[in-house]
Amino acid sequence: MRTLTGIQPSGTLHIGNFFGAMRPAIEAQSRGECFYFIADYHSMTSLFDPRERRKHTLGVALDWLACGLDPQRSIFWRQSDVPEVTELMWILGTLMPMGLLERAHSYKDKTARGISANFGLFAYPVLMAADILLYDTQRVPVGRDQKQHVEMTRDLAIKFNQAYGECLVVPESEIRDDIAVIPGLDGQKMSKSYGNTIDIFGEEKATRKKIMGIMMDSRTPAEPKPDADRNLAVQLLKLVAPADVAADYEQRLRAGGLGYGDLKKALFENYWNYFAAARARRAELAAHLDHVEATLRDGAARARAVATGVLQRARQASGLG
Ligand code: TRP
Repeated sequence: MRTLTGIQPSGTLHIGNFFGAMRPAIEAQSRGECFYFIADYHSMTSLFDPRERRKHTLGVALDWLACGLDPQRSIFWRQSDVPEVTELMWILGTLMPMGLLERAHSYKDKTARGISANFGLFAYPVLMAADILLYDTQRVPVGRDQKQHVEMTRDLAIKFNQAYGECLVVPESEIRDDIAVIPGLDGQKMSKSYGNTIDIFGEEKATRKKIMGIMMDSRTPAEPKPDADRNLAVQLLKLVAPADVAADYEQRLRAGGLGYGDLKKALFENYWNYFAAARARRAELAAHLDHVEATLRDGAARARAVATGVLQRARQASGLG
């Protein structure tokens, strides 16, 4: 089973991203063939600073490699290193009804928010379809927000096959509904736009301060707290601490006698330990950027070997070349 995941090169990742999207994607490596790419072409629809794009592309490569993406076992590349994807995008674009693109959520949301649309933003779903179909992808695990894009991809593959003969693999989407919403520092869903995040690779002092600053209620330490399971620090501790350690803190909070300060201190320490190995790997990778660059290029060569085969098939089927 071939799974493909596109990664937006969009700045600092937080533990909500990690437990929501990254960890499941990284665990999938042990179950089948995984293709991961950094969507730098996609970033062009809304980011116009070349230095920022390079920085974010490399940053996200470091993040994923540090967190366990294994470039030996999987294929990991930078989208623009396989420019064949843009040719498939053109071919698919000619089969894409305008009306469907006009109804795409992501486009409608962005224009509704006053972002001035360019052709790239409008055509985004077609590039995403090309990303998926260029690699004979069978499964695309995505969040709810991307479901419509995968449906469009399926439609395009079916249309192509009807017009030009059986050629493209029709992928299945796998909507990850089971993903727990990770609460942020204020108890709302953790999100960069709410400014309530704990970064995966945040600086030590600043992160400690953030965690120690989580607002609690005014009950005294001695008071029993029957609602201990709803305590934000307990919920976060369950993600980053060994199960028995988290259960012990929850139990002590419920019984009374554990102060919020001590609880938050435990949260910080366990968070810091949880990501310690990844942090060390990231520092190591950052010190050898040429090696990271070589890893991406090697991934691109392997991805390209698949891509050229599929594209050749599509060109032949549609009477090109
Ligand atoms: N659109 C996806 C997102 O916003 C990223 C992406 C681009 C993608 N191409 C893809 C995801 C192909 C899955 C498959 O997160």
